[in-house]
Amino acid sequence: MPERISLAIDGKKLDCPVIAGTEGEKAIDITELRAATGYITMDPGFGNTGSCKSAITYLDGDKGVLRYRGIPIEQLAEKSTFVETAYLLIYGHLPQPKELDVFSSAFNEHSMIHEDMKNFFNAFSSSAHPMAILSAMVCSMSAYYPTMIKENPSKGDIDRIAVQLLSKVRTIAAFSYKKSIGEPFVHPRHDLRYVPNFLNMMFSSPTKSYKIVDEVVQALRVLLILHADHEQNCSTSTVRLVGSSHANLYASISAGICALWGPLHGGANQAVIEMLQEIHADGGKVDKYVARAKDKASGFRLMGFGHRVYKNFDPRARIIKQKADELLNKLGIHDPLLDIAKRLEEAALKDEYFVTRKLYPNVDFYSGIILRTIGIPLRMFPVMFAIGRMPGWIAHWKEMIEDPATKIGRPSQIYTGESKHNYVPIEKR
Ligand code: SDX
Repeated sequence: MPERISLAIDGKKLDCPVIAGTEGEKAIDITELRAATGYITMDPGFGNTGSCKSAITYLDGDKGVLRYRGIPIEQLAEKSTFVETAYLLIYGHLPQPKELDVFSSAFNEHSMIHEDMKNFFNAFSSSAHPMAILSAMVCSMSAYYPTMIKENPSKGDIDRIAVQLLSKVRTIAAFSYKKSIGEPFVHPRHDLRYVPNFLNMMFSSPTKSYKIVDEVVQALRVLLILHADHEQNCSTSTVRLVGSSHANLYASISAGICALWGPLHGGANQAVIEMLQEIHADGGKVDKYVARAKDKASGFRLMGFGHRVYKNFDPRARIIKQKADELLNKLGIHDPLLDIAKRLEEAALKDEYFVTRKLYPNVDFYSGIILRTIGIPLRMFPVMFAIGRMPGWIAHWKEMIEDPATKIGRPSQIYTGESKHNYVPIEKR
């Protein structure tokens, strides 16, 4: 691999360093391009552009490899917990027993939200999307914990906000669900671990206690671990970009939640189930919908299919599909939408349109089957993605703010508007 590459343009020369990553990925450092040549690069969607160096997650889209701090997600999904995986992503190593105990205990200390924050739920209309509530509540934490929003937070400040966000996001999500169904809030309990605590807040009520089933806990544990990070995806890049202005962590995460909400990103898990429900209602005719997805004029896409990076398979989708099967079998549930999803996958993977464009099921294609089976309402599916992605957002914000090379994000553009012309007073237009 060359150490440098030479660019010659309009009589100007520039030698650009070549950067190599741990796994041999290569980048051309064009930091001096504009100053030396007056040119910028153009890369809509940033598919060929690296925004930073990061030690958090490695993925190889061709080989379907995904590792958090070097550990394959298959091993973490099988052996770790979501809290331990969150520690790994944020602090860079698997915690020692004492470290995990301190980290995990802090979740109890920070599981409740400020009593005044409950007023927000009354202010939102009952039709409010839970992602709107979540984003607003997270940003409002800057008002309830004002000592934490310093421009240069200490390590202790960041550690505290990290646990606050990881723990409270469950409570906010569960409270928004309770509000939407007109039931009283169920508070977090100190005797329950991360996932059972969330499930209890969601599904217990003053008149019935929720029976915590291990199969459900394990399925949600795996789902959260698999969603925990995914390097520079749209929402994580949003968190880094907002944080690069030295906006506080609450504000940065709130922006990430909004980016994740989009149906092309984390909102896809909700869109997949809505698509499967439409196909089911239409008699399960998967071929009809495969044909629609190929017809550009239809504007229809197979939600849960395709990925900017994975061009053979999304390793998360494989695990989630297996977990969905296992959960339904263990609970003795038959979900017709799972059958339709499998037939849709089978039909698409034999179709030249999808094969040539390397469109395969992504993380969102089967995750909704598990969420449905657990009883999570459809509009909360993106919220579940946000709960899972919280450790990754925090880890990237921390890595960005601690990197002395970080500069405020400010992309360039090529102007294509009107050339210079004079103002015309309204009476002369
Ligand atoms: C996530 O980045 C991440 O890591 C994201 C994520 C994470 O963990 O953070 O993995 C989570 O967001 C997963 C993706 C969830 N979104 C969806 O499932 C929505 C459906 N998929 C797409 O809209 C699309 O595939 C994207 C957005 C995922 C990727 O878009 P790209 O890389 O910009 O691809 P593209 O839109 O340029 O499409 C390339 C071609 C086009 O056809 P041509 O112009 O070449 O003829 O593929 C077609 C597209 O029309 N295409 C699809 C399709 N996805 C792409 N056609 C039908 N159905 C689809 N789903």
